[in-house]
Amino acid sequence: MAENFDVKLDKKTYIPDPSYQANSALGDYKKAYAEFLSDPDGFWAKKARELDWIKPWDKIRDWEWPQARWFCGGKLNVSANCLDRHVKNGRRNKLALIWKGERGKEEIYTYRQLYRAVMRFANALKNLGVKKGDCVCLYMPLVPEHVIAMLACTRIGAVHSIVFAGFGAEALHTRIRDADAKVVITADVGIRRGKFIPLRSIVDEAVKNAPSVEKIVVLSRERCPVELYSEMEVDFYAIQEGVSEECPPEEMDSEDPLFILYTSGTTGQPKGIVHTTGGYLVGTHYTSKYIFDLKENDVHWCTADTGWITGHSYIVYGPLSVGATVVITETTLDYPDPGVWWKIIEEFGVTIFYTAPTAIRMFMRVGEEWPNKYNLSSLRIIGSVGEPLNPEAFEWYYRVIGKNQCPILDTWWQTETGIHMITTPLGQPMKPGFAGVPIPGVVADVVDKEGKPVPAGQGGLLVIKEPWPSMMRTVHKNKERYLQYWNQINHWYTVGDLAVRDEDGYIMVLGRSDDIIIVAGHNLGTAEVESALVAHEAIAEAAVIGVPDDMKGQAVKAFVVLCQGYEPSQKLISELIYHVRMTIGPIAMPSGIEFMDKLPKTRSGKIMRRVLKAKEMGVDPGDISTLEE
Ligand code: WT7
Repeated sequence: MAENFDVKLDKKTYIPDPSYQANSALGDYKKAYAEFLSDPDGFWAKKARELDWIKPWDKIRDWEWPQARWFCGGKLNVSANCLDRHVKNGRRNKLALIWKGERGKEEIYTYRQLYRAVMRFANALKNLGVKKGDCVCLYMPLVPEHVIAMLACTRIGAVHSIVFAGFGAEALHTRIRDADAKVVITADVGIRRGKFIPLRSIVDEAVKNAPSVEKIVVLSRERCPVELYSEMEVDFYAIQEGVSEECPPEEMDSEDPLFILYTSGTTGQPKGIVHTTGGYLVGTHYTSKYIFDLKENDVHWCTADTGWITGHSYIVYGPLSVGATVVITETTLDYPDPGVWWKIIEEFGVTIFYTAPTAIRMFMRVGEEWPNKYNLSSLRIIGSVGEPLNPEAFEWYYRVIGKNQCPILDTWWQTETGIHMITTPLGQPMKPGFAGVPIPGVVADVVDKEGKPVPAGQGGLLVIKEPWPSMMRTVHKNKERYLQYWNQINHWYTVGDLAVRDEDGYIMVLGRSDDIIIVAGHNLGTAEVESALVAHEAIAEAAVIGVPDDMKGQAVKAFVVLCQGYEPSQKLISELIYHVRMTIGPIAMPSGIEFMDKLPKTRSGKIMRRVLKAKEMGVDPGDISTLEE
């Protein structure tokens, strides 16, 4: 196993303006963390009480390894917490959603409009025979109806399974089958980079040999009547005609499943991660309010797709449960030009912006003249998620987008954790490359494979030692797989990431523990070498793999994408090798460097090193259903 290796830590820190902490909902991080530690159950109960419960819980947690139950006996409804209470409590005319389509079209929904739309569609779903506990699969573009469909499911207690609309028929089929979806909701088309994606025909293909599916709901993007091709199909709007606008929220048990979300990460079979009602909502509400510090006048924009956990937690459930104004868009970051996103920030006065390192690196590559064309002064907080935010990307993001004043929340978390777990809370000094510290509520550690904490500066395995409300409850139809998260080290939750901590307890996540290369007995994280490469001015993106080497066991092979204005050359290769040598040391020097136009990535933006490796070795890459192109 690959732990226990030394990492060179950069000591640079950024100190945020004290007003951030002074005005934050969390206040002093250390104080808040100590408060949590002194009474964990009391801490979570206090957070849970900020939501509306139909019936209060009898017991805060019931933890019997590896199964946790939270807010036992409590009853609530997620859509009622995201809509009804705001409609009743003075936010009825506040904007809930601002949508911008790829072709410039805009739509807005106030909380009251959204509330009514959700109830209408919820009643339509009921009329189709959808009942509490049934699974509804959503395969939709990022349009307001997508959010409406999610909330309508939660209103009637249906379990949604959202499949990112960039997946193909085979991947969709596997997920429909595994979840036994009764209804699939889709649209005639999705739009991406000016091209139409025939979502509905992909669904037609995917439902073959999926006997659980009874109905397919088709949304017309242009809201014109949908021509129906089969008995199974119904029109998203036609089924709402004449339905009642009243749909009381279903009383859900805190532990009733809320959704299944398939994650494939970078390896193997997709896993259906199951999240439940009470704990998940408490976690997303808490982190939106106290970590993202969402306030009444904030305009929140998370650029993820609703097909990923980031979209579930920080486009929909977290921000709407606190009553925020949320921007959603289907625009791609560089279409028609790399200024579209910055234009959205200027247009809507976005105050909180949350994106991924892969996007930040793309913007670095095309140059700061694009963001500089727009007024980004509304921004207050900027965030990052999905991969390590390498120091160069941090510095660029901080300077060019945050104008040297917005704190960066580099949030480490997973589909399985439901909410962010490690970050640098507002007011704490920021250290580029480090995600930060465990948020109050989370007990994390970096340990060796025996569970012994490793000293500062030494790499180890990231673990979470205590259960938390929004943790996944199981892997759908795969208890064994669920157990594997909990039975590796001391009955703790083993994350699968390598990490290192500094003297102040800041955690740097280096990448998946399987992304490790052993060169002549020394462990190297791919992320470390990649970070060194992208620190070079010519390099926009880098991926590193280990290849067999007679002498050293493994050698480092790098694949790089150049910044605009640079050309591949032997001279550049030598320069890059020298650069890695000077940054990390001779052990990390790549034995080969290949120039690429782009790197193979999952649709959620993670580099698929496995595909590069298979190509290099001339072997079958295995399941590549998550590959972007
Ligand atoms: C894996 C989880 C959580 C939403 C998006 C991804 C990596 C995620 C960070 C970060 C370093 C990160 C980890 C993690 N990861 N955020 N801030 N710094 N690594 O969800 O697809 O479930 O992937 O993404 O390796 O285990 P996911």
